[in-house]
Amino acid sequence: MKIIGGHASQLLAGRVSELLKCNLLVSDFKKFPDGELYTRILDEFAGEEVTIIQSTPTDSDFVLLLLMIEACSEAAKINVVIPYMGYARQDKRFKSGEPISAHAVARAIKADNVYTINIHDTDILDYFDANAKDLDATPAIGKYIKNLILSDPIIIAPDDGAIHLARNASRDLGLDYDYLEKTRLSGDTVTIQPKNLEVNGRDVIIIDDIISTGGTMAETIYLLRNQGAHWVFAACVHPVLSNNAVLKLFQAGVKGIIATDTLDKAVSTVSVAPVIADAMKKL
Ligand code: R5P
Repeated sequence: MKIIGGHASQLLAGRVSELLKCNLLVSDFKKFPDGELYTRILDEFAGEEVTIIQSTPTDSDFVLLLLMIEACSEAAKINVVIPYMGYARQDKRFKSGEPISAHAVARAIKADNVYTINIHDTDILDYFDANAKDLDATPAIGKYIKNLILSDPIIIAPDDGAIHLARNASRDLGLDYDYLEKTRLSGDTVTIQPKNLEVNGRDVIIIDDIISTGGTMAETIYLLRNQGAHWVFAACVHPVLSNNAVLKLFQAGVKGIIATDTLDKAVSTVSVAPVIADAMKKL
């Protein structure tokens, strides 16, 4: 198998190729004067199985992925790994007249196998014209947390929709986990607190799939600190961290940010390369 690293996932592709001891092919990426994109895979791959690794945080990254798939049409087999897939959060028609953007994006990707990592909703997998599978990076985040020196740690999901992330991160590690529950006390009063456990005096790791604007995480950090949490860490699979998200988290009192390299940011200290490499070995 040959690994082809997309523009947005060069480091991750390098790490995967090293783990699999596979050749990493080099591509050229350019922009024409009119803004159109160009790519060319500079090494040979005709008749071979290729795995393209490219996150799509921007429209350009998505177009480059389509171009790379097209460039591989002479490969024997095409696997596509989209560690972070943009547009996945618009997975429903929330208002009439809206597109299901995740459907539009996924249906354009044609390959033999597609892998995503902690995609926003696994129902999106059905939209791909390929065998599609979602991989779970949260045990790798759990392992990282386990190595931190923490006082009575607890992993908390910001809502019940993210409880599986907290559960999977704490799996096999003997760490407590919980989620925040909103209870309406009256027309205009709500309380938000951990469903089952106390955070007072404990170190807390909040885990979510994405930190984008940082709004959800910052609010959760404030809340847990007000409830007596000691150190609060913000963990996520996909550090989108748009605009001033990092500042918001530090203003809210975060002790540290833990994220994976599905997006290559300064906080991407947990690598998903072993998760991808294991999936590739099973092909
Ligand atoms: C929401 O459904 C997601 O799981 C995240 O909670 C959300 O995308 C985070 O976005 P933001 O950082 O902009 O609050």
